[in-house]
Amino acid sequence: MQIVVLDGYCVNPGDVDWSPIKALGTLSVYDRTHPDMVAQRLRGADAVFVNKVKLNREILQNARQLKFIGVLATGYDVIDVEAAKERGIVVCNVPAYSTEAVAQHTIALLLAICQHVEYHASLVRQGAWTAQPDFSWWEIAPVLLYGKTIGIIGCGRIGTRVARIAEALGMRVLGYSPHEKQGFPGTFVPLDVLLKESDVVSLHCPSKADTVGLIRSDTIAGMKDGAILINTARGSLISESDVRDALVSGKLAAYGTDVASEEPIRLRNPLLTAPNCLITSHYAWSPKPMRQNLIDVSAKNLRSFLYGYPQNVVS
Ligand code: NAI
Repeated sequence: MQIVVLDGYCVNPGDVDWSPIKALGTLSVYDRTHPDMVAQRLRGADAVFVNKVKLNREILQNARQLKFIGVLATGYDVIDVEAAKERGIVVCNVPAYSTEAVAQHTIALLLAICQHVEYHASLVRQGAWTAQPDFSWWEIAPVLLYGKTIGIIGCGRIGTRVARIAEALGMRVLGYSPHEKQGFPGTFVPLDVLLKESDVVSLHCPSKADTVGLIRSDTIAGMKDGAILINTARGSLISESDVRDALVSGKLAAYGTDVASEEPIRLRNPLLTAPNCLITSHYAWSPKPMRQNLIDVSAKNLRSFLYGYPQNVVS
């Protein structure tokens, strides 16, 4: 069995182990694959794993030997699933491998904003504390989350985990999801109520027709003055220029995000020069145990397929 990984670098830059997949056949791992090279690298492949490389109809029609596609991620929008189905190619993903990690990063962004960690740590390094007469010094007082309200948009796995941590911090939790989820620790409210009552709004819904641009000038207008917005879901959920305007005017106190409309983030992105904007580089999912788990579950997906009882099938 010929197995190809077309873009393995982000999942495994060298610190985790491909051997669970290697055990199932002859494995070729490419760090990255330019679109022009995809067809060539799929020639003779029985199984392929991709993270972000697109496999469109034309590619799938020409990959005559291909029987299995493993997505090294949860989202599988890079695959033309219909075309795969027509060709009888099974497509599998890895659901929920990084829930705890993304929830942790969400709270990390929130705490970094509320405690002004980066700002003060940098001033301390520059000698600002040393120059003070008192034992305690701050330039901007921390924001206390205890007693404040967090609104979770998208109360699935990550949203629920974030809600539980926020509850442990003493926050009141509101949630908005099209379907109410069991196990969510907060109160479900309509979106406009959530926006109006929340000191912190955190986005955890997928990017789709009804969520693209969910946070834009008119929805921001319905938010509390000085609210904090956190986004570890997808860049397309917000209008970046509207969020920038709200940060400049002070309507939003801060925006913490792990995602951008174009990734890697482009120099022209209006958020790069916005005030009170904390941006990380889409790595919430990436602690080592999560990436090894991704490989382990991917190997199980392929093994189950080979034994005739495929799991995590999305096609
Ligand atoms: P999930 O499928 O468990 O939860 C998503 C929730 O969003 C569901 O409860 C669904 O009902 C809800 N939803 C759907 N449409 C909605 C709408 N119009 N308005 C409000 N809620 C809506 O997904 P999970 O695992 O919690 O992941 C959430 C998102 O986190 C993913 O879609 C992905 O974009 C993002 N993510 C980010 C990562 C990162 O590294 N930053 C890593 C993994 C996921």
